[in-house]
Amino acid sequence: MLNIAVLVSGGGTNLQSIIDGIKSGFLKDVNIKFVISDREGAYGIERAEKAGIETLVLDRKIYKKELSAKIFEQLQNKVDFIVLAGYLSIVAEPLISEFKDRIINIHPSLIPSFCGKGMYGLKVHEAAINYGVKFSGCTVHFVDENTDTGAIILQKVVEVKNDDTPEKLQKRILKEEHEALPLAIKLLSEGKVVVENRKVIIKE
Ligand code: GRF
Repeated sequence: MLNIAVLVSGGGTNLQSIIDGIKSGFLKDVNIKFVISDREGAYGIERAEKAGIETLVLDRKIYKKELSAKIFEQLQNKVDFIVLAGYLSIVAEPLISEFKDRIINIHPSLIPSFCGKGMYGLKVHEAAINYGVKFSGCTVHFVDENTDTGAIILQKVVEVKNDDTPEKLQKRILKEEHEALPLAIKLLSEGKVVVENRKVIIKE
């Protein structure tokens, strides 16, 4: 069994895709032990409560630079993996070292494009449309000490249409995110993800 904690900051649709994946049997050996939010009122917390999952709100405005240490305190020796699902605070020590290669994130672009500090939500899609790329998509990657720079596990490609607005593109990419994140978690739970420096090999 892969015991995970999911960290959210907002609507939690990616969290919901994991909850649904467990319910449908797609994620056979996965258990969400905790959902933690860094802000009050995140709908992701309500989703977790409805699914009977233990929740915790650690307000980033209260814990500030201590937030990652507080999260580590709650999760140490209790989960195998941490999944960032629409989580907006920076993940810092001791989480980075203590959970090396055991934290994954989903980002709504094809990293290394349109990512890094300040690139989240609609800003990502605005940047892709303004740049004029023909394809965008989403990326599931390991989390390291920088922002959106960890080794890439999975990517899904989404065509950018001529009349796309950031909202329309976001909607199509979110649909792919809801496939990619559960699939990445499934592969991890089956031991099919091998990290070789920057490269991630998915075993058949
Ligand atoms: C998603 O686009 C995700 O890629 C990004 O945050 C957005 C909101 O996710 N990290 P959610 O609906 O809160 O899961």
